[in-house]
Amino acid sequence: MNITAHIGSLTRHPVALSVLGVFEESGSLAARLPLTGAAKQGLVPLLESVHFRGQSKESVVLPTRGPFRSRWVAVVGLGKRKEFTLQHARVLGSVAIQTARNREFPSVAVQLPVHDRWHAAQVSQAITEGLVLGQYRFLTFKRQLKPQERFQVRQAFVVGTARDATAVQQGTRIGTVVAQAANFVRDLCNTPANVATPTYLADQARQLAKTHRLRCQVFSTPELKRLQMGGISSVTQGSVQPPRLVIMESTPATNTRPTVVFIGKGITFDSGGISIKPSGGMEKMKYDMSGAAAVLGILQASAALKLPFHLVGIFAACENLPSGSATKPGDIVTTHAGKTVEILNTDAEGRMILADCLAYAKRFHPQAVVDLATLTGACVVALGKYAIGMMGTDERLKHRLRAAGELSGERVWELPLWPDYTDGVRGDVSDLKNIGPPGEAGAIAAAAFLKEFTSYPWVHLDIAGTAWAEHADTWQPKGSTGVGVRLAIQMLRTWAEELSEAKGAR
Ligand code: BES
Ligand code: ZN
Ligand code: ZN
Repeated sequence: MNITAHIGSLTRHPVALSVLGVFEESGSLAARLPLTGAAKQGLVPLLESVHFRGQSKESVVLPTRGPFRSRWVAVVGLGKRKEFTLQHARVLGSVAIQTARNREFPSVAVQLPVHDRWHAAQVSQAITEGLVLGQYRFLTFKRQLKPQERFQVRQAFVVGTARDATAVQQGTRIGTVVAQAANFVRDLCNTPANVATPTYLADQARQLAKTHRLRCQVFSTPELKRLQMGGISSVTQGSVQPPRLVIMESTPATNTRPTVVFIGKGITFDSGGISIKPSGGMEKMKYDMSGAAAVLGILQASAALKLPFHLVGIFAACENLPSGSATKPGDIVTTHAGKTVEILNTDAEGRMILADCLAYAKRFHPQAVVDLATLTGACVVALGKYAIGMMGTDERLKHRLRAAGELSGERVWELPLWPDYTDGVRGDVSDLKNIGPPGEAGAIAAAAFLKEFTSYPWVHLDIAGTAWAEHADTWQPKGSTGVGVRLAIQMLRTWAEELSEAKGAR
């Protein structure tokens, strides 16, 4: 699907379906409908006859009257004006694309709602994200589809006034890039573990690096041995799939470009290992590589947007399976950092591979390191599906991520990481143990463990609850959500603006 800005009026634009948002507020529909003249007069009685209220996600499709050049118009509720956020704009875009698709309309135009709290660039970006995210389906393995199930809208427009022309154009461009990257992440995470193996993920990294001219190193078993990546080795040793450690790097470091490292957990299947998980729902553990996939999406989008950072992406990919060669509870392993860990539960494997990646990241002398991982069930219990669990050692970085979360809709919520929690992961017969006290703050215990391998400004994002949707919503079908890309890119963009302002001030 192609998405472009259209400057002018919605009614004059020749498309199959016109879409416009209406706020839920007091006052007549005639006053609330953002149209003029005959277009408005034609629509008001129809909307009144269906008692349209303007609640968020409410929508009605009507035949046009008057000067419209489309035959159909969809009126979509935006909720209360006072409560309007960019998420409502995303919903507008996703309702628009789904309405068009359900009726097999080849083209759709969405009018930009005007709101004094948000800039036109932000709203048009959010609408575009809604269009692209709402269009996503995972059909790779579907061989028996009816033509209407394959139908795709070919062309979408975000319609704004001449005053907002540049903003709308910028918004559609950025929105397309980040949402396409999120959809790429969704594809990777929805792909089953027999296809999306560690080798497959590394190949995806290589391909991406080629397209965007990034540096890409892929380490296999011999290099992992040489580098003494004991954390990764301990997890992968029960599986016949060879592990991979992938390091990607954008333009080389310069004094003006901060080095930011993103690290992802890439467990392509987490059975729990010898500490095996219950079988119910185990199939979902193919998405235990959502962190690694997010790192790929972040590098893809930041390369496309040419963000002014020296970016490094690191992920370890392997399977966690039980077998005769698998790690046993009680085994003690030596990590890349040299610290020893007693494995008390082989299902706490994510922190073992992340520990090696975090220690490796030190060589880049980063200004910031962010790791993304479907790390703990405890995080799902604590925060559910609406918030990413955030823990870290750097207030500025946490602040940046919190602010980016509000704008991108991928919200983060901080949990404490006081030194007290580290006591819980100290080892009896080793430096560390890989689980904390039973039944106590499992998400934090995991972060306290990771902290022992960091020596730079660092934030850990636990995406266990946010990476997978059990139920479809307008902007996402059931399955992988592609979480992380929109958050990280928003953070980097705001940071980049600060950098250029500081430069201008000098
Ligand atoms: N991959 C899981 C965490 C997870 C759980 C992700 C649910 C998504 C949904 C992780 O490797 C794990 O199994 N963690 C254990 C840690 C425990 C053994 C300390 C957990 O959360 O139960
Ligand atoms: Zn596990
Ligand atoms: Zn896991």
